[in-house]
Formats: sequence, C-alpha cells, structure tokens
Amino acid sequence: MSIRKAVVTAAGWGTRFLPATKAQPKETLPLVDRPIIQYVIEEAVASGIEQIIIVTAWGKRAIEDHFDRSFELEHALEKKGDLERLAEVRRISSLADICYLRQKEQLGLGHAISTTRCLIGDEPFAVFLPDDIIDGEEPCMKQMVQVYDRYKCSVVAVQSVPPDAVDKYGIIEPRPMSERVYQVMSVVEKPHPHEAPSNLGIVGRYILTPEIFEMLDRTPPGKGGEVQLTDGLQLLIQRQAVYGYEFVGTRYDAGTPLGFLKASVDLALRRPDIGPEFRRYLQTLNLSDGHNVDSVREEHESSAKG
Ligand code: UTP
Repeated sequence: MSIRKAVVTAAGWGTRFLPATKAQPKETLPLVDRPIIQYVIEEAVASGIEQIIIVTAWGKRAIEDHFDRSFELEHALEKKGDLERLAEVRRISSLADICYLRQKEQLGLGHAISTTRCLIGDEPFAVFLPDDIIDGEEPCMKQMVQVYDRYKCSVVAVQSVPPDAVDKYGIIEPRPMSERVYQVMSVVEKPHPHEAPSNLGIVGRYILTPEIFEMLDRTPPGKGGEVQLTDGLQLLIQRQAVYGYEFVGTRYDAGTPLGFLKASVDLALRRPDIGPEFRRYLQTLNLSDGHNVDSVREEHESSAKG
C-alpha cells in the first residue's frame, strides 16, 4: 500500500460553530447519529490507510473517548440485550489503529501537520480535515491514492467553486494533465474573485510527500499569526510537482452551521432506516408552495389539539 498513514487535524477552535463548540469539540457534533470525525476515519479505513494520527488539543478528550472501548457501556448494552448497538459500539473502537498527538498551541493547520513529523517519518501521507465530509460511491481518498500511485507526487483535492466563493478557498492555477488531474502551478489563498487564477478550490483532503515538513519549517506565520498549509504548499510547488485532483463526490463543509445542516439533511435522506420517513416529513413542509415552517407547525399543532 503506497499511503499507509494519515493525519486528521482536529485541534482548531471551531469558532464558526460557537457557542456549540464552547464545551464540545466540533468534531464530535453528530451528523445524523455519528460524530463528524467518524466519517473521515471511515473514509481513511476504506481507502486502505493503516495508521491514523489525530491532532487534538485541550478540550478535545471526547474524540479519544469516542474511539476507545467503553466497557461499562458495552456491559450495559449486553445486559439490555441490545446486540446491534453493542456490535456497533465495538466496531467503532476497533475501526483503526489511531494515535493522538496534542498541538499545545493552535498555531494553524500547517503547524498542526508539522507536529506529526516524528510519527510520519520519511514517507508520503494523507491529510484529512474532518469538517469536510465527502460523500460518494468511491471514497475521495481512495481516488486520490490512485492519482498518487500514477504520478508519485503530492495530490490536493480540488472542486469547482462558484465565482462569489473563491475568496473562501485556496485557489489553484491549474495545468491540465489528464482527466480530472491538473498540475498545480501556484496556489492563491482566498483571492479576490477577479484575481483568482481559476475556480478550482482546495478542499480538506491531501496526500503530501514528506518534503512538506521542511517547507512548513520554512513557512513564517501568515494571516492571523497561523502557519498556513497553503504557504507550505506554495514552497513545495517550487521544489517538486504537486497535482490537483477533481474528485468525484459531494462535499459538505460541516464546520459551519449551514453546511452542517445541508449534510445532515442529505445524509439522513440516504439512510434506509430513517430516510423514507424523513422525506415524508420534509414533504409536509411544502416549502416550494410559499409555506414556511412556522405555518406548518401551526397546522400540526391545531390538528393535534383538534
Ligand atoms: P479551520 O480553519 O477550519 O479552523 O481549520 P477551525 O478552528 O477548525 O474552525 P473555525 O474557523 O475557528 O470555525 C482547518 C483545520 O485545521 C485544524 C482544524 O481542526 C481543522 O481541521 N487546525 C486548525 C488545527 O488542527 N490546528 C490549528 O491550530 C488550526
């Protein structure tokens, strides 16, 4: 297997989700019934990753507890005879070989990745940003590993973004190489729409060669005093080829309330156990008809009283 190790960065403050994230890690907010971070761990495992390093910080202990065994809970489920949930709880704790590394100061994504150097060593590795949920038939990282195997260089996941959203992404200057694959000639962080070199924005999946560590060491703190991964990538591009891959799949930015809601609705609709009933509920909202949720609620309440 060419890519054996992955880094999942989970040390950020999650300020866009305050106040929910004041006392709870953003990564443990539930999408339907699983914490956000479980989706990327499952994607990593389904992509052939063998070892996962989760970068955490103060206040993020719930992440470790989630992937650990809980003998009390297992015992309680066993006693209740709830064997299905027992199996699921056990499955989660044996999903992957996970280790945790604390980023003592939140000095940016680039800094979070550079703290993992001692565990990654001298081999290419995957990076997952757990806010980015990518849903599709073939796991996004699995597709990227195939691109890595072909070109043997760093690969960043990109997607087309609307012109008025380019200022929220690192935008690549692309040179087309093959279907969905581009050589990244440069990266511009959050450009003004008329300065963007393309509409291809980088999203939260990367395969990086170990040379990135040296580049991150040379990267001075940028915006907000943080070491930006994009700046490190820009240095890497000057040393070796970096490719952009336009993955197949739907990506949700679950790190914001709106993106999180969209992901929740879509993922719930696709669930065989609750999807059909949830769809029927959404249809009762009759939103396209100019009704709003309040009027539907009033209808429900008056028919319940009535
Ligand atoms: P974001 O820029 O989304 O920051 O980080 P955030 O703290 O998660 O969320 P907001 O912007 O305050 O709402 C991108 C990724 O980098 C990680 C985050 O956990 C997220 O996966 N990160 C960021 C770290 O691990 N350490 C840092 O110092 C900063």
